[in-house]
Amino acid sequence: PFVPVLTIDGPSGSGKGTVSRLVAARLGWHYLDSGALYRAVGVAAGWADLDLADPSALVRCAFDTQVEFRENGAGEPRVLINGLDATDELRTETAGAAASAIAAIPEVRAALKDRQRAFRRPPGLVADGRDMGTVIFPDAPHKVFLTASAEERAERRYKQLKDKGVSVTLDSLLREILARDARDAQRAVAPLRPAEDAVHIDTTGLGIDEVVERVLQWVRR
Ligand code: C5P
Repeated sequence: PFVPVLTIDGPSGSGKGTVSRLVAARLGWHYLDSGALYRAVGVAAGWADLDLADPSALVRCAFDTQVEFRENGAGEPRVLINGLDATDELRTETAGAAASAIAAIPEVRAALKDRQRAFRRPPGLVADGRDMGTVIFPDAPHKVFLTASAEERAERRYKQLKDKGVSVTLDSLLREILARDARDAQRAVAPLRPAEDAVHIDTTGLGIDEVVERVLQWVRR
């Protein structure tokens, strides 16, 4: 039977992750955090001390790294890499930068393709990433492209990190976000771009709940 997919693509800090999780819960659908797969390969490559300039070692790492998504006893989502809980390490800027570097290698992207498609199970899937609507699930009936100004994305990230007690400056976050945007948009394979049939939602100045409602309206249209 046809399993519906809602793809939610956009740059880092657009609110994709939070919105996707909430929308998946509201619909009762499965959820794929594809960025976490790229981050996991980046982190595993770091653990194994691999050279980020050695594509064949990274491709092997992409095939060999086991990634499991599960909830702990308190109902919080955790990510296990080769059986070890790496949830906190995955969220660091170091992991994000490693993910962005390895994500530019076509064979790494190819290695992760089937794994991402396997998340498509009844009754439906919400898939969050950069190329969900363009490359991984081009036949998805519902596609959303979320944006927000770079300044607003930096501020959201700043608040998140401050709440966690991490000390950073807004300025350095803004610079990192702009650098990552440029790398993700300019790479030759699966650059960040909206699918032609995606609805664009600019989340600048919108609360999470408003964005969730708009996405649900789009799915139920
Ligand atoms: O979404 P998140 O910030 O976790 O993604 C981390 C990095 O992984 C992104 O900067 C991007 O380079 C890469 N990525 C990707 N394709 C995806 C998801 C993430 O290239 N579908």
